[in-house]
Amino acid sequence: MTLLADTTVADAFPILAREGLVYLDSGATAQKPQVVIDAVEGLLARHNANIHRGVYPLAVEATDLFEGARERVAAFVGSTVPETIVTKNATEAINLVAHAWGRTNVGAGDAIVLTQMEHHSNIVPWQLLAQATGAELRWLAVDEQGLLDLSQLDAFLADGRVKLVTVTHVSNVLGTLNPVAEIVARARAAGAATLVDGSQAVPHLPVDVGQIGADFYVWTGHKAYGPTGIGILHGRREILEAMPPFLGGGDMIKTVTMDGVTFADLPLKFEAGTSPIAELVGLGAAVDFLSGIGMADVREHERDITGYALEQLAQVPGVTVYGPTDVDQRGGIAAFALEGTHPHDVAEILARDGVCVRAGHHCAQPLMQRLGVSATTRASFAVHTTRPEIDQLVESLGRVREIFRLDED
Ligand SMILES: Cc1ncc(COP(=O)(O)O)c(C=O)c1O
Repeated sequence: MTLLADTTVADAFPILAREGLVYLDSGATAQKPQVVIDAVEGLLARHNANIHRGVYPLAVEATDLFEGARERVAAFVGSTVPETIVTKNATEAINLVAHAWGRTNVGAGDAIVLTQMEHHSNIVPWQLLAQATGAELRWLAVDEQGLLDLSQLDAFLADGRVKLVTVTHVSNVLGTLNPVAEIVARARAAGAATLVDGSQAVPHLPVDVGQIGADFYVWTGHKAYGPTGIGILHGRREILEAMPPFLGGGDMIKTVTMDGVTFADLPLKFEAGTSPIAELVGLGAAVDFLSGIGMADVREHERDITGYALEQLAQVPGVTVYGPTDVDQRGGIAAFALEGTHPHDVAEILARDGVCVRAGHHCAQPLMQRLGVSATTRASFAVHTTRPEIDQLVESLGRVREIFRLDED
């Protein structure tokens, strides 16, 4: 029996025992299962030492725990150890690529394709690169259903000037599940490199980076039930080997003399300074937790919850949910507007009932501009989300309608 079928999945998360808590903000950060907390505590309490250096038993234990976690994290998404680089978060992983790859491969007259549904962390590094190099940004439009139009991608690729295509795997606002393998294939056929932002995908659906085929695939640990301060960059070995390092310092070198430096082999070449050791060990426990459930079951559960949420939200007068209506085309995210209210007021009133949702621009201001709003209210789901929690959300929205006297209009 899977953990999900067992209906006690919430028991794995100590914080969910808090009275009256309805946590619908996993898109911002996921809650942590006890096994992750234990793994972090175990490292700090019993195995703490710096890694890759010491020869005494404690240092060997810490190194083994760190590198063992890297192996499991790599395997979890179908990657390999040399192609799995530890960063601070997804944002740092994207900045690493924008600097180390971007500044050697992108120049004046080149173009970078991105989409209107990107998180700022997959926009601003490319804006900085464009400013530094004179490259041009080309924005793939989001249509009325919250989808991308791949014929526009083909049109952008046609002049041969595109050096990189970057796209989010799952939108953190619309929930759109983008056809990333198809986008990567089209970009590659046109000679462009690709980066996929998997921050909202890896915790929620089976991901095989080999099958997607992107040159770079990034994700962030804290949304995947791991600790904060840990992100992952997967890169294709040839491209990583050809890239200069991002940051310089300890750990990323082979030799340093007064005349020069040679760099460590992958993945350490991109891991300057002391790594987030407890954080990666915690992320290793998080992917074990997800593997224990099975990612197909995780996806199935969240697909069911999302479908139910879309159905129930549609019953609330004045609610507009953004993004695809077909649950096969979306992850577990429902951003919405309630006519006659401001998203911050909605979130605040929901909070009085213990319902935790996010209100704001969700670090996606270009998408807000596309949608013609300044903010939305967003509910986002996780392995532990239940139908009664969706019912609570809908009931609390009824209360918002009462407070704003929306029924009297
Ligand atoms: C789609 C997407 N990409 C990137 C990020 C950035 O993650 P981090 O802040 O952990 O780097 C987020 C976080 O909200 C996100 O939703």
